[in-house]
Amino acid sequence: MIRIAAVGDIHLGPGSAGLLRPAFETLGDCADVLLLAGDLTRHGTVEEARVVADEVGALPVPVVAVLGNHDYQSDQEKAVARELTAAGVHVLEGDGVLLDIGGTKVGVAGTKGFGGGFAGRSASEFGEPEMKAFIRYTRTCAEGLGRALRELRDQGSDLRIALTHFSPVPDTLAGEPPEIYPFLGSYLLAEAMDEAGADLAVHGHAHMGTEHGTTAGGVRVRNVAMPVIDRAFAVYHLSPAGGDGKAARPT
Ligand SMILES: [Fe+2]
Ligand SMILES: [Fe+2]
Repeated sequence: MIRIAAVGDIHLGPGSAGLLRPAFETLGDCADVLLLAGDLTRHGTVEEARVVADEVGALPVPVVAVLGNHDYQSDQEKAVARELTAAGVHVLEGDGVLLDIGGTKVGVAGTKGFGGGFAGRSASEFGEPEMKAFIRYTRTCAEGLGRALRELRDQGSDLRIALTHFSPVPDTLAGEPPEIYPFLGSYLLAEAMDEAGADLAVHGHAHMGTEHGTTAGGVRVRNVAMPVIDRAFAVYHLSPAGGDGKAARPT
């Protein structure tokens, strides 16, 4: 049984330094890994990233993160990622990391992802260059996620988790105004997960959304935005499959 702790949208800044650290320091007792689903800062400044790095550095469990749109706000996303990496965090964007947790190989594939909407209400690569660029960017994120999941499979992972900031499904957006769903996620992310296979998908971004959802292909989706889970982190349990890669069930 692998215990996955996850939270997104912690939106830290100098005023909130130390706020989550006491809770994170208990992770060794209740989890095997911490996933951070983006929007770790308020405005994506290096100063804010240092607060995040202090909060999640040197924890008793490995920490894996993707960035969110807020972490891009100051056009310093690379510097933000560097601060986190220097603190020992695996920062993913179109790639993955394979962790050995007590002999179980747990793969995490990550991308920030982007918007575009969901079946029947989605944008497409049509018309103006700006519109094409919008959806092409989402597609690039989704392709990176799918590629990373396949690579983790080929590396013999026992469990695979898809970590994004934007949502792969509309289920976990319930509670948000329907008008903004296209800015909260894209079906392309779910397609990538369903095609490559994943045991769990974790995202944030939708502060007013819902925790539980499922892709069309049956991948369990969890919205771990902190305002949704209403605690420092949620913990999900995954059991490695007996060999067919399908038996894992988050609880
Ligand atoms: Fe957020
Ligand atoms: Fe966000």
